[in-house]
Amino acid sequence: MKICIVGASGKLGQYMVQHALDRGDEVVGVCRAQSVEKLQRFGDRIAVVPGDTNDRDVIRRAVAGCDGVLTVLVPWGVRQYATGTAQAVLDFAPPGARLIFSCGWHITRDGQDVYPLSLRVFVAVFGWLARLARFADLSDQVEACRRVFASDTRWTVVRGSDLQEGDSQGLPVWSRHVGDPVLASNITRRIDFALFMVEALRNDELLHEAPAIVSCQSPSALAARQPCDT
Ligand SMILES: NC(=O)c1ccc[n+]([C@@H]2O[C@H](COP(=O)([O-])OP(=O)(O)OC[C@H]3O[C@@H](n4cnc5c(N)ncnc54)[C@H](OP(=O)(O)O)[C@@H]3O)[C@@H](O)[C@H]2O)c1
Repeated sequence: MKICIVGASGKLGQYMVQHALDRGDEVVGVCRAQSVEKLQRFGDRIAVVPGDTNDRDVIRRAVAGCDGVLTVLVPWGVRQYATGTAQAVLDFAPPGARLIFSCGWHITRDGQDVYPLSLRVFVAVFGWLARLARFADLSDQVEACRRVFASDTRWTVVRGSDLQEGDSQGLPVWSRHVGDPVLASNITRRIDFALFMVEALRNDELLHEAPAIVSCQSPSALAARQPCDT
């Protein structure tokens, strides 16, 4: 499979590159020019297209001929970076390509998510402060996902819980709605978030779903008797 990873130089992106190479996929990575060196360890095993991920020409060139696109959606800045990135991928990915996008639990597809107070307070306070400091705009990620949900492409939006570093614990389990008991532990290893994204490329059960994920070894997943797949 030929896949493009948009935002390849970040923590999540680098884990996705490694998982994709482990599967024998051909990888094209997109990252900001100043971050290209973060991908040096992959050497000539990946092709790199430097540039901002919301640069439509960069994305058009990077996704050409790809069977799948993994996109890290980040709300940094106040210039609709996430929305521009998502729109470029939606516009230029080859017809029929599998498109997987990342975001956090705070994104809701159908309004049926029930959020813990701690998350609601964090989103409200961080969102307000970040916007005030012009550091990030959470509504940008919301708009990016709204456009993905409304598109007729072959999308999946993976919604990450709180993240931690560490060795893999296996493929996370998922649920359609935050508030479902299986998700209560609200923790996933970042390496496994990346694993879920890469596996989703080949899992059509996730087509037009917005899975909220949690570690398969977390107490809430174990209590719900959802065993790890890998
Ligand atoms: N962090 C969490 O606890 C958490 C929880 C749930 C879900 N998520 C989701 O997980 C995904 C990635 O999260 P992560 O924490 O693992 O981060 P990450 O992988 O380190 O990704 C950060 C990305 O943002 C880019 N970036 C950083 N500063 C930027 C700027 N000023 N302008 C444009 N791009 C910039 C980075 O590119 P460079 O390499 O060029 O800097 C990198 O591609 C996001 O979709 C996020 O919503 C995160």
